[in-house]
Amino acid sequence: MSKPIILVTGGTGYIGSHTVVELQQAGFETVIVDNLSNSTADAVEGVKRITGVRPHFEQADCCDRNAMAAVFDKYPGITAVIHFAASKAVGESVEKPLLYYRNNLISLLNVVEEMIAHGVFHIVFSSSCTVYGQPAVLPVTEDAPVQPAASPYGNTKQVCEEILRDTAVSSALQGVLLRYFNPVGAHPSAEIGELPVGVPQNLVPFITQVAAGVRKELSVFGNDYHTPDGSCIRDYINVVDLARAHVQAVNYLSEGKNKTAMEVFNIGTGKGLSVLELVAAFQKATGIKLPYRIADRRAGDIEQVWANPGKAHALLGWRAQESIEDTLRSAWKWEKKLMC
Ligand code: UD1
Repeated sequence: MSKPIILVTGGTGYIGSHTVVELQQAGFETVIVDNLSNSTADAVEGVKRITGVRPHFEQADCCDRNAMAAVFDKYPGITAVIHFAASKAVGESVEKPLLYYRNNLISLLNVVEEMIAHGVFHIVFSSSCTVYGQPAVLPVTEDAPVQPAASPYGNTKQVCEEILRDTAVSSALQGVLLRYFNPVGAHPSAEIGELPVGVPQNLVPFITQVAAGVRKELSVFGNDYHTPDGSCIRDYINVVDLARAHVQAVNYLSEGKNKTAMEVFNIGTGKGLSVLELVAAFQKATGIKLPYRIADRRAGDIEQVWANPGKAHALLGWRAQESIEDTLRSAWKWEKKLMC
């Protein structure tokens, strides 16, 4: 019997490539669609080195409707889609809102319209805890109110969630919206990982570049927040753990276990770590002393947010497994590989 095929848009990207590995290891065949705007085809080879199987790869832009139709025509065995393909830099989205609305909304519309046209009705969508803004109650659960987005990027995630919910009402579409907390780390093999372009905006890639000597020191954005040590608190989730949540989500849909047509899940560890605690964890995990200084707050930052992942555990059978030290060691191993 042929294996079910999962279409992974954005599959050469950071989270996408790790998800392709986990899907293949769980017995799925995978087709990657990516326009390589923020990744390279090396990830396809990285996946092959880890799993022994090269995923199908179609270099195409999800904003190109005809190209998407051609992918579904070429692979009639597709049973579900995991839609990662999107622009994700918060600051850039403020500078170029139309680019973000075009990329993130048109790509989703094309993917969903072609899914329905080809009789594919299961979708897993990459959403973000950014939709909660600063939650009033922590840890945050899925029924916490969605707050006005702080950036065009954040707004695209909210609008995409709404598009999917509305579509599920009037079609056979069913899906899972995964609200990621802060994905970090790399595959333990260091065959795949995050490829930041230019100066990293996210904390862990910046830390590993400081450790590698590419940057002089880390700026800790603010130590006067209302948190125990004054720095911001986040829920750092290992990217392999996160990738596994997608496999569970695909299985959940195919087994018909979903109670509603569009089910939301928090994907985090359930533990908040401050920036200073993360720096300490990195030093402990790697033995490297990290130069840092306290800088001004970064505009738009949330003070503290971490997940209640209980729903994902109860319904998807998923929970984070990797320790923060192992996760940071994997990020450092990947950084060292990039240096070679
Ligand atoms: C950011 C986005 C979020 C998006 C996510 C994707 C914002 C406001 N939020 O999350 O919408 O889904 O990326 O990965 O941009 N920090 C430093 N020094 C640095 C870099 C970061 O102190 O050089 C701090 C930040 O102030 C923050 C924490 O580290 O408290 C994590 O920052 P980051 O990795 O950028 O993630 P978020 O801002 O949580």
